Amino acid sequence: MTAGAGTRLWPLTHSVNKQMLPIYDKPMIYYPLTQLMKADVRDILIITSAYDLEVYQTLLQDGSQWGINISFAVQEKLCGIADAFLIGEQFIGRDNVVLLLGDNIFHGGNVDDSLKNALNNTSGATVFAYPVEDPSQYGVIAFNESGKPVSIEEKPQCPKSQYAVTGLYYYDNYVIDIAKSLKPSARGELEITDVNRAYLHKKNLEVEILNENTTWLDAGTSASLLAAANFIHTTETKLGIKIGCPEETAWRLGFINDEALIVAANRYAKNHYGQYLLKLLAGSATC
Ligand code: G1P
Repeated sequence: MTAGAGTRLWPLTHSVNKQMLPIYDKPMIYYPLTQLMKADVRDILIITSAYDLEVYQTLLQDGSQWGINISFAVQEKLCGIADAFLIGEQFIGRDNVVLLLGDNIFHGGNVDDSLKNALNNTSGATVFAYPVEDPSQYGVIAFNESGKPVSIEEKPQCPKSQYAVTGLYYYDNYVIDIAKSLKPSARGELEITDVNRAYLHKKNLEVEILNENTTWLDAGTSASLLAAANFIHTTETKLGIKIGCPEETAWRLGFINDEALIVAANRYAKNHYGQYLLKLLAGSATC
């Protein structure tokens, strides 16, 4: 999901889609895209605004260069995250579905395993929670003494727990019916939190807690955008790796072969990014 006006970042996002902004050496959208690839989610629908559609198509193409299938759909009016299931109804068909917000960047810890774990569930929903200092900025999930989720609220003034619900969600196909039954919230949006609450009420909501080794970056303000870029820069430079690199992930997971990686690398052969990809083939990059 890459629609949204990104008003907290204006004027940066006045005429450029937020998920097209750089996080150090790549567009923001590369990070969530790579996250999906790591969980072997290979059929991906990018939902964006009519204004931004062309830049996404130019950047991401049809995904075949990375061994995945990318389709595009337009959200005509900004009417909330849960609208994704109405826009994507045909794309989803009878399958289960992962929803990932384009400004959510995860790294390390147990996020990859947690997502793979969730994908083994055939019914219900799974959300991924992470303890934060100021949960009032997020969807907040609270638990009883035995660790079962008991409430979920969108940006509550008095949060009942420290656990933010991150922008990564996994649902069975029933999510489409739930989305169709939603009424817009006070701010006029179909809220993803209302979808999750519907699963909670049916006792069909699983929660994966992301552990302290997981980094969850939300690049929603200019300060957090800079912090995210600094984190990626520091980690990549220190470890000699790239985070959120779709070419590398595709190659490591066998979605593309050596020849396709060379083609990808040669697009940027004169810069550090392309040289990094070429080094992977030579086996000299650390991973
Ligand atoms: C959205 C969701 C919120 C969730 C957050 C995660 O908020 O509504 O429940 O915690 O994403 O990034 P937004 O950032 O769109 O205001």
